[in-house]
Amino acid sequence: MNTIDQVVPASSTLPQHVAVIMDGNGRWAKSRGQARIQGHRKGVEMVRELVAACGEKGIAALTLFAFSSENWRRPKLEVRLLRQLFLLALEREIEKLDAHGIRFGVIGDVAAFGADIAERVRAAEERTRANTRLRLTIAANYGGRWDITRACRELAREVEAGRLKASEITPEQLSARLSLPDVPEPDFFIRTGGEQRISNFLLWQLAYTELYFTPVLWPDFDRRQFDLALQSFATRQRRFGRTGEQIEAPRRA
Ligand code: IPE
Ligand code: IPE
Ligand code: MG
Repeated sequence: MNTIDQVVPASSTLPQHVAVIMDGNGRWAKSRGQARIQGHRKGVEMVRELVAACGEKGIAALTLFAFSSENWRRPKLEVRLLRQLFLLALEREIEKLDAHGIRFGVIGDVAAFGADIAERVRAAEERTRANTRLRLTIAANYGGRWDITRACRELAREVEAGRLKASEITPEQLSARLSLPDVPEPDFFIRTGGEQRISNFLLWQLAYTELYFTPVLWPDFDRRQFDLALQSFATRQRRFGRTGEQIEAPRRA
């Protein structure tokens, strides 16, 4: 039995792990003659709605790209305001998340946001560790290449220390050293805002993920839009290299 047989449920019309690139906040604000930060503020509200929807539907994991390792290239003011918004959201939302049984986590190099944020993230992760309803992960100062490079470094250290042989390195060994080692890889990816690219999100983990791109800007991505996305997922046939016949009649094909 290979790993794919182990991780994929026999038939599933509801994704177990949804990963989202929440894009389009700036354009949403601009189209209203507002400052970009207003779009980011509205974006936080939409996060709240999506988290609630995922909890209600029984989706096990939700991973949201909030700030990429490349977003430091933005104007200083926008970066500063995004940092403030992150801090505010950590202060205001964690209690509610905990009350709803949501396990909160962050992937990415949070130390770069400063000690106040890093400490709050650590405390929030600790506080919600035992929750099982929904695994909510925020990717902040995250990059897929950073993640893979880190995992490679860790493997190299283990080889140097004599704990592992180079010939023993497998895809599973590498996966185990990436961020989110204990969460099944996303089965559904959504990107709002019209761009059709991955922008250095979960590069390794998206290898066999179903991709969904919508022109709807993130602040407009409401429950109805999420339902449309889920409807699209439900029509997909996930083949993992096999033929359609093998999937439809596994015993005969
Ligand atoms: C996504 O919205 C949020 C972040 C990257 C922080 P954008 O800010 O990229 O919005 P657009 O793409 O400029 O409209
Ligand atoms: C991707 O959006 C990152 C986040 C949503 C946090 P960007 O707006 O930064 O992506 P690019 O630059 O258009 O690829
Ligand atoms: Mg963008």
